[in-house]
Amino acid sequence: MQGVTSYEEIRMSPQERADIDRRTNGMRHRREIDERVVYEPLTELLNRIENRTARIVVIGQGYVGLPVAMEATEQGFDVVGYEVDAKRAESLAAGVSYVEDIDGERLRTALAGGYRVSTELGDLAGFDVAIITVPTPLTDGVPDLSYVGSAGEALARVLRSGALVVLESTTYPGTTNEYLAGILEKSGLRAGADFFLGYSPERIDPGNPTWNLVNTPKVVAGCNENSARVADAFYSTIVQQTVLVDSCETAELVKILENTYRHVNIALVNELAMFAGQLGVDIWAAIDAADTKPFGFTAFRPGPGVGGHCLPIDPSYLSWRVRQDLGQTFRFVELANDVNQHMPDYVVRRISSMLNERERSVRGSKILLLGMTYKAGTSDWRESPSLVVAKRLKALGAQLTFCDPHLPDGQREALDAPFVDFGPEALEAADLVVVLVDHPEFDPEVISACAPVVFDTKSLVRGHDFAGEVL
Ligand SMILES: NC(=O)c1ccc[n+]([C@@H]2O[C@H](COP(=O)([O-])OP(=O)(O)OC[C@H]3O[C@@H](n4cnc5c(N)ncnc54)[C@H](O)[C@@H]3O)[C@@H](O)[C@H]2O)c1
Repeated sequence: MQGVTSYEEIRMSPQERADIDRRTNGMRHRREIDERVVYEPLTELLNRIENRTARIVVIGQGYVGLPVAMEATEQGFDVVGYEVDAKRAESLAAGVSYVEDIDGERLRTALAGGYRVSTELGDLAGFDVAIITVPTPLTDGVPDLSYVGSAGEALARVLRSGALVVLESTTYPGTTNEYLAGILEKSGLRAGADFFLGYSPERIDPGNPTWNLVNTPKVVAGCNENSARVADAFYSTIVQQTVLVDSCETAELVKILENTYRHVNIALVNELAMFAGQLGVDIWAAIDAADTKPFGFTAFRPGPGVGGHCLPIDPSYLSWRVRQDLGQTFRFVELANDVNQHMPDYVVRRISSMLNERERSVRGSKILLLGMTYKAGTSDWRESPSLVVAKRLKALGAQLTFCDPHLPDGQREALDAPFVDFGPEALEAADLVVVLVDHPEFDPEVISACAPVVFDTKSLVRGHDFAGEVL
């Protein structure tokens, strides 16, 4: 195969290149370049995608990467799932899935087909399409792109002309073109000219029975037109609908906008829930009734705070970028962070006053916490507000027990309190039961029949003959 035409071959002088970079404000929107490139490798990669001979690698085999790898395998591609966590890789190789949306049988079928998992960089050599799905956490409150950086460094060592790299990790606008492109270019190849580069945010909602990777429209962008074309061609093989946007920056903003929208609206109802409680108004009834309006209102519901890998983190990527580049404060994000982060403290205050009304203190009271993951139906406990509630109650001397059918064993041990099975025995043994997550296994009728007192942050037991309080 001939390499993608390089800058030298299209006779672009350093001065012309500098001019383009200046005009595009340092970004690498290289439409100008595209028009002048004879892009034979474009046709070749499009053909390989079309006839399923393209070799796919997915960097990171977590909640996002594993479903992408499974779907690509099922569409007939050879897929390598590259995973640096040796324990995770071993588990997958043995056909044991730790991602709830991918069951063991589906994984084992993929292993028997075109999928394999690897911790060896050499296994990525000669790839045609690489999808990066590594974590993008906050470290000390600041975006931490080190995982994206090391994934890029690894790919730069095996990158070849004519391949496509797509970042899926959630991040601030500018990451793909300003940060990842530079790391990949350590290969000596140029983004957009020698290899294709794109961004496509993952929108999966773990545990959602209706919307999944395949039927949720997938936003796709490239650093230039040809990159967008091949990225779109690849995703069109694994999802039902792609939505092409004009730049990686737009695609990056799409994901953060979606999560900031949810974060801000949840903060709104959380704050309202606190006021409504004091005003003696039923916030849940008000939201349900407002939700009957067929237009202009979208229902968000209160809870003990926000958790998971998205809401507590992604909006801060955006506010960091705004502060960094524009010197401005993104006030909505700061306010939403403030309200949502203080919800666990509010929950503890309410628990404390409920016990107080019953002439009890938190110290020494037996409190059963229902739900330790960050939301219903998932095993993901990252940033879960339940963990903060547990920590605060423990510090006040409560005798805690936990119940969570979804929490993985390793994390149970780290919580350092007994776990109990859901049922009358555990509920009756507690002085107070706190519903923190509305897992489907938590039967509201059993809770209202057996728990002596309930503090319900999810309105799970609503509609039952129940003497407890809701948030
Ligand atoms: N979990 C979700 O619901 C969700 C939804 C949409 C977007 N996202 C975003 O997708 C990204 C990944 O999230 P996730 O939930 O899948 O994370 P995860 O922690 O479940 O999986 C990431 C995996 O990448 C591996 N990894 C880290 N660095 C690596 C490297 N250099 N090479 C190979 N493997 C590496 C980790 O060991 C881990 O197994 C994040 O940016 C997240 O914000 C997550």
